[in-house]
Amino acid sequence: MAVYLSRGEEQTLRFAERYARGLKAGDIVILDGEMGAGKTVFAKGVAAGLGIMDDITSPTYAYMNDYGGKLYHYDCYRLSSGAQAEAMGLCDYFYADGVCLIEWAQNIADVLPANCKKVKIIKISQNARSIEYD
Ligand SMILES: Nc1ncnc2c1ncn2[C@@H]1O[C@H](COP(=O)(O)OP(=O)(O)OP(=O)(O)O)[C@@H](O)[C@H]1O
Ligand SMILES: [Mg+2]
Repeated sequence: MAVYLSRGEEQTLRFAERYARGLKAGDIVILDGEMGAGKTVFAKGVAAGLGIMDDITSPTYAYMNDYGGKLYHYDCYRLSSGAQAEAMGLCDYFYADGVCLIEWAQNIADVLPANCKKVKIIKISQNARSIEYD
């Protein structure tokens, strides 16, 4: 695990943009961290790094936003089991060619493939975040 210390949203965006360059098709990244940690901010940076021009919004109500098959951004906060995700077809994209970013992945832990990458964002103060990644 490596650690990056972010002192503001802009730094998280830029760090995530760089992080995205190390991703390859089919990678699944668990975005861990409490509410308001910066998971969605990180996802915006990854999207930029993948060359996605769309405005990235939180998929809280949609569960998953598909950015042209290149990026699948999940928010599993409102899911209570892997079976629920499976029933909605949300697991199919784990085996597709895009990158999957998953917020609140612990809610669907039993259906996640092995060898997911992990990014953990820890809130240190209002604007500082410790970002652990592998
Ligand atoms: N260094 C930082 N990195 C990221 N976000 C920061 C930082 N400092 C402050 N913020 C603020 O923290 C908030 C992070 O919100 P974000 O929606 O990304 O959180 P989240 O982890 O996705 O939460 P949720 O679990 O509710 O989806 C934003 O308001 C952002 O401006
Ligand atoms: Mg979020």
